[in-house]
Amino acid sequence: MCGIVAYRGLRPALPALLQGLSRLEYRGYDSTGVALNPGDGHPVEVYRAAGRLPELAAVLPAAGQVSCTGIAHTRWATHGAPTVANAHPHVDCTGTVAVVHNGTLDDAAELAAELTAAGHLLSSDVDTELVAHLVESHLSPITTGAGPTAAAVVAAVGAATARLRGSWALAVTVRGLDAVVLARHRSPLLVGEGDDFTMASSDQLGFATEVHTVRELAEGDIVVLGDRHGWFDHTGRAVTTPRPGRPAEPPAAPADRGGADDFTAKEIDDQPAAAEHLIATVAGRLARGALLHDLGLPTGERIRLVACGSSAYAARVTARVLATVAGIPATVVIASEATADAAEPDTLTIAFSQSGETADVLAALDHWHDPLLAVTNNPQSTLARRSDAVLGLGCGPEFGVAATKSFTNQVLAGSALALSLASALGRLSVGELVGFEDQLAQVPARMAATHRLSAGPARDLARRLAMHPAFIYTSRGAGVPYAFEGALKLKELAYRWVEALPAGELKHGPLALIQAGTPVILVQARPLDRLAVNGREMAARGARLIIIGPGEDADVPVAAADHEPPWGPLESVIALQHFARETTRHLGHDVDRPRNLAKSVTVE
Ligand code: M6R
Repeated sequence: MCGIVAYRGLRPALPALLQGLSRLEYRGYDSTGVALNPGDGHPVEVYRAAGRLPELAAVLPAAGQVSCTGIAHTRWATHGAPTVANAHPHVDCTGTVAVVHNGTLDDAAELAAELTAAGHLLSSDVDTELVAHLVESHLSPITTGAGPTAAAVVAAVGAATARLRGSWALAVTVRGLDAVVLARHRSPLLVGEGDDFTMASSDQLGFATEVHTVRELAEGDIVVLGDRHGWFDHTGRAVTTPRPGRPAEPPAAPADRGGADDFTAKEIDDQPAAAEHLIATVAGRLARGALLHDLGLPTGERIRLVACGSSAYAARVTARVLATVAGIPATVVIASEATADAAEPDTLTIAFSQSGETADVLAALDHWHDPLLAVTNNPQSTLARRSDAVLGLGCGPEFGVAATKSFTNQVLAGSALALSLASALGRLSVGELVGFEDQLAQVPARMAATHRLSAGPARDLARRLAMHPAFIYTSRGAGVPYAFEGALKLKELAYRWVEALPAGELKHGPLALIQAGTPVILVQARPLDRLAVNGREMAARGARLIIIGPGEDADVPVAAADHEPPWGPLESVIALQHFARETTRHLGHDVDRPRNLAKSVTVE
């Protein structure tokens, strides 16, 4: 999704900016651009492209770009289509002020009307452009020759942001000032310090490898990256004690498909090993709540689980384990729908987010002040920094937009937490706990077997069903979150309409959708006999039943446990991932980068 990179140093800025943008690419975007500021009074040069980095490279000057200050952006369209005119950086009327922005402005329409009435000429549909004009109005009059002082730009950015409503991480560069000015509100922004340069990025991944220290802007901070750096708090006062710094993480391994046709294929394949790694880190710590105690967390009776999308389905599995094993009625909050609830003492909030950057999750967390645990694949993320404790998924980078191994590891992490809590509260005998530990230990092998067993049949099925426009995905009990997750994979990758619901709900309305040949993907789960009854009801109306499960009648076989574990038929999701991916390939769509979507959803 939207990503910011800024550079101010002694070397040309462009290579570091482009490298940063390329590291942020996997998050998903639809247009991109850079602004290079020579800092000597010559114009700020802006290059933008609709499309990805190769399209930007095509409009960049071939050589001779020596500006040592610049800002850059990848955009995921919110206000306005993904066109060149709407790509960042945006400039003011005179091209003096260039701005890149993550976040969204709630008062864009009102501001646009005000600025237009004041004579500003708007040239895009994008809220960000309004910031450039607002800064312009607070800076004027600026002559093109003599540039403004850093103090003047800080004051102008402060005055402009005071007028905004919404969320923003901003990087601003102004003709005649060899500096970048940063501001943030409800959208993360980091400063990365190297020996002879300073960068800013919305994500640590955007930094050059030579960055050694990372500091985060606090809410309302305004920072100058220039000859003399300056750091100001939301009241405009200079921050004399530096914001806490931390060593930069070693650069992530370059994206590698490991010989697979696409990242999604590799990441489906990674799941048994990823699960094994996660289980090894948690399994010895289930008894008497050690997993929670080690994280410094309470072991109380109230749990709130917060997440979006696939992560919310992993949260649903966790809630079910908490209910059935620990007797705890956990609440699952879909982050984008969160509202403040009556404060219950001793509640533990657990946020599931593979990226740790999901804006809906971060915004939802503003509603509560309970101890917070992040279950995330990104221990450097904004969510992790905000949390009291972090349980890392440790499944390695996931580049495909579709969650695969991060989903299965979230299920396992959530289940381990639930089992550990149940043990802490005395709801599990030693024998029962050992039984669950055994079941957990068997998961990687069953995943590997399912991977082998299901890939071929899923491919055949995809060939037969790919052209079908609509599907029903269903299950019962512990299988329901997996039916929903499988349905989400088919929607987001293959662009097929899918109705996902618990099988018992069909007769309450959606059964009317079934006609001769309607494909119904039935994820087998206990109680099998009840599910079989629902299957017969659908078949009687012409549905084409496709069974995903361990039984002999399965269309896509799954290596399931003899006794269903409290987290249900997790392995079935591998078969569903194969089916979605094969359908997508058959239709000729991009498996790793589905249309309209982003890996990190950094807008609310
Ligand atoms: O990074 P998160 O886990 O917070 O992302 C939440 C959803 O956007 C995400 O799970 C999404 O639904 C999946 N990528 C779909 O495969």
